This record gives sequence, C-alpha cells and structure tokens, in this order.
Amino acid sequence: MPDSFGLSSIHVRQGNPDFLDLPWHLPLSRWPEVCRRLVEVERGLSRHEVVFASYDGVIYALKELPPRVGVHEYDLLCGLESRKLPAVAAAGHACTRLVQGDGGDCSVLITRFLESSLPYRTLFLNPGMERYRERLLDAMAGLLVRLHLAGFYWGDCSLSNTLFRRDAGELQAYFVDAETSAFREPLDDGLRAQDLLIMMENVAGDLAGIASLVEPHEAARIQNTGRVIRERYERLWSEITREEAIAPSENYRIHERIRALNELGFTVGEIELIATGEGDQLRVRTIVTDGDYHRHQLHSLTGVVASNRQAATMLNEIREIRATLSRELDRSASDSEAAYRWLHERFRPAVQRLASLTDRSDDLPELYCQVLEHKWFLSERAHADVGLERAIDDYLERFQHA
Ligand SMILES: Nc1ncnc2c1ncn2[C@@H]1O[C@H](COP(=O)(O)OP(=O)(O)OP(=O)(O)O)[C@@H](O)[C@H]1O
Ligand SMILES: [Mg+2]
Repeated sequence: MPDSFGLSSIHVRQGNPDFLDLPWHLPLSRWPEVCRRLVEVERGLSRHEVVFASYDGVIYALKELPPRVGVHEYDLLCGLESRKLPAVAAAGHACTRLVQGDGGDCSVLITRFLESSLPYRTLFLNPGMERYRERLLDAMAGLLVRLHLAGFYWGDCSLSNTLFRRDAGELQAYFVDAETSAFREPLDDGLRAQDLLIMMENVAGDLAGIASLVEPHEAARIQNTGRVIRERYERLWSEITREEAIAPSENYRIHERIRALNELGFTVGEIELIATGEGDQLRVRTIVTDGDYHRHQLHSLTGVVASNRQAATMLNEIREIRATLSRELDRSASDSEAAYRWLHERFRPAVQRLASLTDRSDDLPELYCQVLEHKWFLSERAHADVGLERAIDDYLERFQHA
C-alpha cells in the first residue's frame, strides 16, 4: 500500500509562504507527479529526497529527513545566520505523520534556494573555470575556519555539502546540510582535526569520478584537492589565532596585525592587550568576527558615511583607540567613547586639512583612508609609529600640487 501522510505541524519563518498547498499527504518522492510548483534546478548529490518548489519566482528546497532531524538542521541554520556565517537560509520545518502504509514519520526541512550557486562539478569540468578552481580551495578553507571559529562542528564537510557562488570575481562557499553538525563552543582541537579528516575523505570521494574524466596532469592536481584545502585551512587558522608580544611604543604593530587579518577577509571584532609579566611587553590577542555591516556600524557610531571597505578600516582604528583607552583608564572603554575620540581627535581634524585636495566632500573618507595607508607605510619604514599629523604633512606635500 502506498504511504499516506498527514501534516502534524509546520513552522514557517516570517516573510515566507505558508506552504500549506503542497501535497503533504504524499512522500516527497511522489510530489513531482502531482505538484505544479516543483522546478528542476542545478543540484548536488544527496541521500535524502530533495525537491525544489517555486513561489512567485522564489525557489525553496525541501528535504525529507527522519523525525526530529529537520528541526535540528533548522535550529543550526538559524544559529549560523545569527552569527552572519554563509549558509543556506532556513525558511521552516514540518513534521508529517504516517497515516497509512509501511513507511515512517518524517520531518521536512525547508530552505531558501541559494540563487546563482555553482555546484563544484561545474567548476571542475567546464573549461574557463580554472581560475575559480583555485578560488574554491580558499573558499572551502575559509568557510571551515569561519565555522570553527564560531564553535561549529560540521561533521560532514564535503564539496557536495557546499555551494559556491561568484562574488565580485571571488568565490564564496556556503554551508548546506547540517545533519551531523553541532555547536560546541569553543571547538577543541580534537574536533577540528576530526572535521578536517572527514573533509579530506569526503573531498576524495566527491572528486573520484571527476579525476577519471580529465587529462592525467589535471587528475593529479584534482586528487590533491583535499590536502591543499587542509594546508590552506591550517595556515589561515594559525594566522588568525596567533598571539604576539609587543612593546607599548609599538602600537603601529597592532594596526599591522589587523591589516593582515583584513587582507585575509576577516574583520577584527576585539583586540585584547594583556600584560605578559615580562618587562612592559603586552600580548596582543585579536578576536575576529565576520559580517558586512561596517558601513552601518560606522554611521551609527559617528554619522560618517563611507563605503563598506573604508568603514571597515575606520572601525579598526576606533577599536584600536578603544583598546588603548581601556588600558590607559584601567577599565573597559565603550565603542561610543572611542568613536567620539576618533571623530574629534582624528577624523575631523584630518579631513579639514585634506579638504584642500578635493572639491567633493564624498571623496574625503577615501582620502582619509589613503592617509592611513600612507601612515602605515611610513611607520613600517621607520619601525616606529610616525603619527597621523606627520603622515598628513607628508601626504599633502606629495599630492597638493600633483
Ligand atoms: N537551499 C538550497 N539552495 C540550493 N541548493 C540546495 C539547497 N538545499 C539543498 N540544495 C541542493 O541539494 C543537494 C542536497 O542537499 P543536502 O546536501 O542538504 O542533502 P542530503 O541528502 O542531506 O545530502 P547527504 O547525502 O550529504 O546527506 C545539495 O548538494 C544542493 O545542491
Ligand atoms: Mg548533502
């Protein structure tokens, strides 16, 4: 007798359809026969039944899972979203009860289809995609590092469980499939190592079929993929979690450290300066966060309107001031105190001087960032912090009449 189900509950996040018109009385494998909302899309391999339904052009992925697994995945995806980590967006979950037949109860996870995502097979098999293959290695390593920093254990990292999307010439990796995952904050080294081992094994499996379809020299490179992702992961992880000792006169080195992390695509959320107990040396610990709201954050703290990248640079300065302030005052200083100082002691006086270089006030944030860059360059050359005033003098001298 064919299985017949009843919908026992459905939970949907605001902003999504209620999904009540879907044929919940049938297993997902039978939906294509009766449901006109279903669409075909590019997709990876899966053990579970996955269908895609379209509502006014917005596509949702529905995945059939054993009881309670749907809500587990849903909760984890919401957790990743609240930490601004790249993952498919959870839209809801449902529970279906077996009414007739010999199947079992099910849960269904509903996620928003990630538009313009490329499955890894396209990246490996299509000509012209070589550039992206290189990016894929960094994207995978970067995604794993980000998840691990957030205390997230994946448990089934693979190319099939990752989606790739082109992002201004780069490739961004997105997490799909949280069946085996859990938040274990902070994630210990044993679990990180286990995740890497699983990744290497899964990636070898993902690519086994592809290696036989390409030229031998390309096949050798492909077979190394898991190992290269692991190496890049290790490099990135140690760069991010490294602590270093500095002397109080070497404040510019904090800036250097933040810059290095920004260049790797990470935002520094907090800086801690801790006495090492060895002379006046301080230990610098940086805590990285993700998120692309720098522009809004800068605006709400200071009223300054800048591009996202410029804002990220300026916010790093504000955090630097905050760390120094906290140390000087021997209490924790707030972002607002640091932002006030930054605005009145650094940004406004600097742009007042730089205004002679342009007629457009919109150019000022960019000019300010260029001066910071210049200051960093001069400080590195002098092995000492040259200060903003000197950097502006030198900058004006070079560009005033250029
Ligand atoms: N929200 C989404 N957006 C785009 N594609 C999706 C989405 N959800 C699932 N997919 C596609 O469906 C495939 C299968 O999904 P998923 O990995 O979650 O299923 P699974 O059966 O749990 O897989 P596994 O066999 O690894 O357990 C994915 O590889 C992906 O290509
Ligand atoms: Mg999967």
